[in-house]
Amino acid sequence: MLRDAVGGRASLSRFSMVQAPGRVNLIGEHIDYNGGHVLPIPIGRVVGIAARKRAHREHRITSLNFRESCTFAVGTVPTAPAGSWVRYVAGMLCEMARHAAFAPALALDVYGDIPLGAGLSSSAALCIATGLAFEAVTGTDIDPIEMARMAQRVEQVYAGVQCGIMDQMASRLGRPHHALLLSCDTLAYEQVPIPAHGARLMLIDSGVRRALAASRYNERRQECSAALTLGRRHGASLRSLCAMDRKMAERLKPAVLRNRAVHAVDEDARVHAAAAALTQRDWAALGRLFTASHVSLRDLYEVSCAELDFLVETALAVPGVLGARMTGGGFGGCTINVVREDTCEDLREAATQAYQQAFKREPRIYELRDSLQAGMVRPA
Ligand code: GLA
Repeated sequence: MLRDAVGGRASLSRFSMVQAPGRVNLIGEHIDYNGGHVLPIPIGRVVGIAARKRAHREHRITSLNFRESCTFAVGTVPTAPAGSWVRYVAGMLCEMARHAAFAPALALDVYGDIPLGAGLSSSAALCIATGLAFEAVTGTDIDPIEMARMAQRVEQVYAGVQCGIMDQMASRLGRPHHALLLSCDTLAYEQVPIPAHGARLMLIDSGVRRALAASRYNERRQECSAALTLGRRHGASLRSLCAMDRKMAERLKPAVLRNRAVHAVDEDARVHAAAAALTQRDWAALGRLFTASHVSLRDLYEVSCAELDFLVETALAVPGVLGARMTGGGFGGCTINVVREDTCEDLREAATQAYQQAFKREPRIYELRDSLQAGMVRPA
């Protein structure tokens, strides 16, 4: 017998264990909210939740990472700072309750090993894991795409980020060793196998966490919607910015809107080319697309930063590195690199040394070999 979070006795069998992974986007940046395609992969780090019903009218949620607990009435979201883990979990429980025949009080113990604020979607994983925990305990069955939509709403309402749907779809639907080729317009998707040999994917965390990232993200969304409105005024019946003709994008004024639109149109094309490169096991082509994507995010979309640019430049100078780009929302977070198998150590050394010298901090470097998928965690 175990002691549960409120001090009662609980046997292991009364718990449901669920998990949801973080994600890294291979390519297709800042176009999920522009009706484009994206190509994220789930990573081998997750948010895990042990969940059970409570004989109360209050939920009790505990974060083992933060060593915090919170108790609140079913159907409410307690006051907590925007972006706090409490609001994500409580918000998601409310969303789920709306779709369930009954909504009992739950005890959730939450633990995660996804680095926070690194652009690896720890918050999307937290929401999806909460949704799965609710499903497991109540026996409710929620369509995966619907669950991703709920998690997106939670992010928008409770964290104030007008995010697209990529992260939530990747966490809910991503499969190990596959990239999720997702149309953010129709939400149709396809699992694209990642070749096991020939090159590796390496992630380098700059350690930069930008407080203003959310407001600058929302600013980009507004610029894109202004560019789309302009395009429609010129007579085009456009579904989204990514559907704009390249020539029309080039003609938009002012320059800032033109640049945002050209990025969106080109990045969408790069996603299709990248999916084809994976299918053809053409790592060199994938690398070139990564680098082109970074240049566009840096110069046209303006969401990179000095540290990310430095890490990309440093990587590209290492023989055997086939391409590099920032990944995720930007203004900090990680770069993703395509690296020949025998070059991983060279990149690790070069990036660590150069970054330490330039920015007086050590980057964290991960090889993206393992990946996990959302669902129940079954005993081994
Ligand atoms: C964040 C958002 C996503 C997406 C990316 C940029 O991760 O949550 O919806 O817009 O930035 O591609």
